[in-house]
Amino acid sequence: MRVFVAGGTGVIGQRLVPQLVARGHRVTATTTSAAGLGAVERLGGEGVVMDGLDAESVREAVAAARPDVVVHQMTAISTAHAGKPDMKHMDRWFAPTIRLRTEGTDHLLAAAAAAGVSHVVAQGYASWNGLREGGWVKTEADPLDLYEGTAAHAGMEALRHVEDAVTGAGGAVLRYGGLYGPGAGEDQLALVRKRQFPLVGDGAGHSSWVHADDAASATVLAVEQRAKGVFNIVDDDPAPAGAWLPHLAVCAGAKPPVRVPAWLARLLAGEVAVAMMTEGRGFSNARARRELGWELRYPSWRQGFAEGLT
Ligand SMILES: NC(=O)c1ccc[n+]([C@@H]2O[C@H](COP(=O)([O-])OP(=O)(O)OC[C@H]3O[C@@H](n4cnc5c(N)ncnc54)[C@H](OP(=O)(O)O)[C@@H]3O)[C@@H](O)[C@H]2O)c1
Repeated sequence: MRVFVAGGTGVIGQRLVPQLVARGHRVTATTTSAAGLGAVERLGGEGVVMDGLDAESVREAVAAARPDVVVHQMTAISTAHAGKPDMKHMDRWFAPTIRLRTEGTDHLLAAAAAAGVSHVVAQGYASWNGLREGGWVKTEADPLDLYEGTAAHAGMEALRHVEDAVTGAGGAVLRYGGLYGPGAGEDQLALVRKRQFPLVGDGAGHSSWVHADDAASATVLAVEQRAKGVFNIVDDDPAPAGAWLPHLAVCAGAKPPVRVPAWLARLLAGEVAVAMMTEGRGFSNARARRELGWELRYPSWRQGFAEGLT
């Protein structure tokens, strides 16, 4: 297949491009500056400079590549694109990513339609953002929590837009869990190492994790199978913060996390951090395993943090 990867140099893109090439596909992958072209070529793809927020730039790049499938992996979460992480003002930190998930998605879908591309696969998110009522583990049939009234709300609305627009066009949205592995989640890891990532309250809030290599392999399957609908791309082991955070600290060579009460965490890191760690809901991967035939190299973060963190 000819595959167009929008965002070919990020945590997913840099794994997805070589995995697609190894399966015999021809890949065009994008970066926002000429400096990134060499990286794409080293991954085995053909590089193109594209601004996902510029409709004309997107239209030209997709038309020139003449792909069978378009994959949306554009985010702007790294410090290079978004500045320093700011959990308390998540809406500001995520502002460029929110635009890529709304305007960027619309530009890609329009470019795909104009070029006669019938299949689109896009990145979604499923870690702690399951509906904060009922059981701790959610399926694709359960709605995501929109975190209304918090700094996460705009980001969650943008994710909802990706899901509505892409599935409405007959494509697939892959809700990746919290990504880890070389080059992934390093800001968070740095905080854990400095003991600045505390356990909040009872630490009962759940998260889902997935190694970035496994997230990329699920994406290859969704591309090859022309998958439709929403899939949770998470490991087998959704777990409370009170379980995964101390293990992450051990695997990162750090001292155990400090514990702080919710009121203090709210003051320091904001409402979203408290909700995530005390009320967050994790996700089931049963649909992806069953329908895509996805097999994970790291079925649990317990093994993954120990063996696949760096
Ligand atoms: N589910 C999750 O947990 C999750 C998901 C995504 C990211 N993250 C985390 O966020 C951090 C940064 O992620 P990342 O390394 O993937 O980098 P990133 O800064 O989010 O960039 C991702 C991709 O989007 C491209 N991009 C950025 N702005 C664009 C624009 N205006 N138009 C078109 N493309 C654009 C980048 O291109 P260039 O940089 O080449 O210009 C890159 O290819 C990592 O720690 C990662 O683990 C977590």
